[in-house]
Amino acid sequence: MSAASNAPSSAIPRACVIGWPVAHSRSPLIHGFWLRAYGIEGAYDRQAVEPGALETFLRAMPERGYVGANATVPHKEALLALAAEASEAARAIGAANTLWFENGRPHVTNTDAYGFMTHLARTAPGWDARDAPALVLGAGGAARAIVYGLLEAGVEEVRLVNRTLARAEALARDFGPRVRVHTWAERERALAGCTLLVNTTTLGMTGAPPLEIALDALAPEAVVADIVYVPLETPLLAAARRAGHRPVDGLGMLLHQAVPGFERWFGVRPEVTEALRARVVADIEAGESRGAGESDGAEA
Ligand code: ATR
Repeated sequence: MSAASNAPSSAIPRACVIGWPVAHSRSPLIHGFWLRAYGIEGAYDRQAVEPGALETFLRAMPERGYVGANATVPHKEALLALAAEASEAARAIGAANTLWFENGRPHVTNTDAYGFMTHLARTAPGWDARDAPALVLGAGGAARAIVYGLLEAGVEEVRLVNRTLARAEALARDFGPRVRVHTWAERERALAGCTLLVNTTTLGMTGAPPLEIALDALAPEAVVADIVYVPLETPLLAAARRAGHRPVDGLGMLLHQAVPGFERWFGVRPEVTEALRARVVADIEAGESRGAGESDGAEA
């Protein structure tokens, strides 16, 4: 990318979420809430950018007044490839969701692992008190971010289970011997001894089939996390709650992953408050009562 001039100093800083499609993204709701809450003169909008058009869009961003962006499906891998500088997290995960410009050059990171781990620590403090394995279901982009976050946090063994075995094996190859693959059929047995279960698949989302997994083998003090947040309490989280495990919902990850980007673009580190959460929950409930299709789990 050639260095583009920065926005005229009189212009308000703008950021956006780039996706295709992008109409479902709740990022404008989150960042708009913070801009108002902190009285910041700034803007955050949605930009529908076709696959293949990302590079052209990025080049034009600074002169259009954009200081950065979030990226969602299908642009996360391409954004990493186009960046001038990428954080260690983005490189390890293989995808970027947050962009900013330094001297006109695009810098990227991936805040999904940060979002998941921060929400986990706040909702289930002491989740890592016992040196025990964690089981992650799924092997897509969200699974890569969460496996990275768990390994960085010092989890010694991550058991990985995915319907398509080859995809889990590929992920394990990238992250090394602390990630051990089990087949989908073995998923209940693989829970034995685990103190954390994370669902990163789309199963349990409104409109998708339920996730079928008995929790009997899970340690009683275990934490059960789901990255699906529509519905807010998935059947997995409800079953975990009934069995006395600590449930961790998917919405917190969405809210916390937005924090580092907002701070970069607008200069204030925002708080994930109950008021923000209530605003997004109201939007989810309005969407559910409209019967709107939901396509995202952890997606920005
Ligand atoms: P993301 O990048 O958001 O994580 P993804 O790459 O589409 O999304 O991954 C979705 C995950 O849900 C995958 O692990 C997928 O399993 P496959 O790799 O076998 O496709 C999982 N998934 C989706 N539908 C599923 C189903 N009916 N049964 C089991 N796993 C399913």
